[in-house]
Amino acid sequence: MISLKEVIEVERPIEACFRYVADFRTTVEWDATAVSAKKRTDEPIGLGSEFSLLCRAGPTTISIQYTIVEYTPWQSIVLEGKSRWFTVRDVITFETREANTTRISYCADFTYHYGLRTLAQSTEASMQKLGRKSLQGLARALQDNNAPPAASPKTAQRDQHLLTALACFTRAGYRRGRRAWAPMSTDMSGKHVVLTGASAGLGFEAAVDLLDAGASLTLVIRDPTKVATMQAALLERTGRQADQVELADLSLLNQVNALSQRLLSANKPIDVLINNAGALFNDYCQTSEGIEMSVALLLLSPWRLTEALHPLLAGHDTPARVINVVSGGMYTQKLQCASLVMSADDYRGSVAYARAKRALTVLTELWSAQWQDDHIVVNAMHPGWADTPGVQGALPGFRRLTQRVLRSSQEGADTIVWLARAREADKTSGQLFLDREPRTTHLRQRTVESADERAALQPWLSQTYATLNLAEST
Ligand SMILES: NC(=O)c1ccc[n+]([C@@H]2O[C@H](COP(=O)([O-])OP(=O)(O)OC[C@H]3O[C@@H](n4cnc5c(N)ncnc54)[C@H](OP(=O)(O)O)[C@@H]3O)[C@@H](O)[C@H]2O)c1
Repeated sequence: MISLKEVIEVERPIEACFRYVADFRTTVEWDATAVSAKKRTDEPIGLGSEFSLLCRAGPTTISIQYTIVEYTPWQSIVLEGKSRWFTVRDVITFETREANTTRISYCADFTYHYGLRTLAQSTEASMQKLGRKSLQGLARALQDNNAPPAASPKTAQRDQHLLTALACFTRAGYRRGRRAWAPMSTDMSGKHVVLTGASAGLGFEAAVDLLDAGASLTLVIRDPTKVATMQAALLERTGRQADQVELADLSLLNQVNALSQRLLSANKPIDVLINNAGALFNDYCQTSEGIEMSVALLLLSPWRLTEALHPLLAGHDTPARVINVVSGGMYTQKLQCASLVMSADDYRGSVAYARAKRALTVLTELWSAQWQDDHIVVNAMHPGWADTPGVQGALPGFRRLTQRVLRSSQEGADTIVWLARAREADKTSGQLFLDREPRTTHLRQRTVESADERAALQPWLSQTYATLNLAEST
């Protein structure tokens, strides 16, 4: 048997350290050999949770199946790992040293099969070295002191060409981006997140990850029949549920107003507001308030909701975060306020969608500048191309063509979660993100809006809102 033993001390509460390590998917963020890590069981992390790890071993990789065989919050975790060549028993113990400092002792005992012990012994020194490096990685991950976000030169270069930029929207783009990510160990306990469009797709996956990170959630969905199923699915995946579910059809500004009023009356400060709800409408449709549906749901609604909730976002000690979920489709369109509301005659769903998302991206930049002194950071993200119910329903042809390269919903939602959770994500504002990196907002010069159009956007939103027939939707 080969035993590796390491001890680290980190300035983090014991609960945060325990939760981070127990989620063995995080090994990719700190283990010197881990290439990928997946959770194989659906239930919340605990006794019996299984993880599948792929680890580098010299020129090759080894697959290791781990199971949590002992789980004693906040004291210890024991995992058993099985591979073709060896079994390993990891015993991890946690101990509070002094205020806010935790000592983590990590012991891994390897037992080799098929008389491989002699061969393994010859690699013991390098294994000890890797063990030390991994625990240093864990200490760094738990220090949670990453550099502020910045686009790498390679990413900036990719954004200069349409095809290489579009390639980043795919699953391969996500996997490439992931290689450069810093660990994300921030604990969201005590953070209040308001997330719209949580019943499906990216919003649901973001809710799962945010609950896993300890956040308290207010989820906004429109269909009352989905509340129980959504809460049950969240409970099954995370062992937790949203604190509150609010019902609102966000294409109706009257309902957006009523929702804002309810949240303002509850007076619970908001740390993160995620404007995620959205859909692409292939056929022209007007809301009962008398405006084209895409512009109502994708632009007027997040504008009105965010402005109304400003008092609950402003003035916290740590900056509140507003995250606007936009779309790579907006790269095709230029902001022109006069063409945001399309008529039935010239309507094309993908164009209406892209124009609204473009406007929301510009609004992100405007809010970011205007709310600096209020301690609110405002960023946009686009998820690339992700296989969600929304894409399945609205873009079946696109989905058929691109199915092999589409991201999963979870991969698409990753940057939403990162913007909400990562400590370093509030060090920047007014940016558009993909895969945790700031990206260009224009792939072509011809989509750059004029200063006059930018200045006209907020007055246009107020004027358009004033024309709505709000009485019709009560
Ligand atoms: N998937 C992609 O590849 C992709 C790419 C670019 C941008 N996006 C953006 O990402 C966001 C999430 O999209 P998704 O792909 O996850 O779509 P999805 O699977 O259709 O989920 C959309 C969510 O928004 C909700 N929603 C739709 N209309 C609503 C309304 N009128 N009032 C309240 N909630 C409403 C839906 O509720 P129901 O369950 O009741 O329908 C659902 O919870 C959208 O803003 C979308 O534009 C997605």
